[in-house]
Amino acid sequence: MPKQLKPETVERIKQLAARYPKPDGALLSALRAAEREFGYIDAEACEAVANVLGMPPAAVWGVFSFYTTFRKETDGKHIIYVCSTLPCAMRGSERLFDHLSEKLGVGKDETTPDKLFTLKKAECLAACGTAPCMQINEDYYEGLTLEMADQILEDLRAGKTRARHVTQ
Ligand code: FES
Repeated sequence: MPKQLKPETVERIKQLAARYPKPDGALLSALRAAEREFGYIDAEACEAVANVLGMPPAAVWGVFSFYTTFRKETDGKHIIYVCSTLPCAMRGSERLFDHLSEKLGVGKDETTPDKLFTLKKAECLAACGTAPCMQINEDYYEGLTLEMADQILEDLRAGKTRARHVTQ
């Protein structure tokens, strides 16, 4: 049986869509709602959203696959987004990414075998003033050093989070 959104989620998406001249204006919000409900987005989730918005599933898939911030079925518990835009790059984000890659034993868009971490690159995370930075799930970590990154991994492995960690 294909994925079905809960009636209350369908209703919420319809309410959102009603605010726009065309229902696809609510697409990103609808995908977020589906992500919250299913835990990730896949082709069936796209189809469920498409059915509510009256859009072709391929159009929904096209938008979903364009954005890197939607959780995929293969993603680990903690998705690490290392900013790769110029201000962060000038402050060492490439070295930070390479360090995390080596520590975790995974490359870009790969997930550790224990499904704990997925490593990704992101465009500007809007925290340029405290570069280099990364986002892990909903939490920001800024002004990072390699030692801080090691500690963050250790904390996450121990089940701790350190949101808005800033040193500058
Ligand atoms: S360039 Fe990294 S947060 Fe803006």
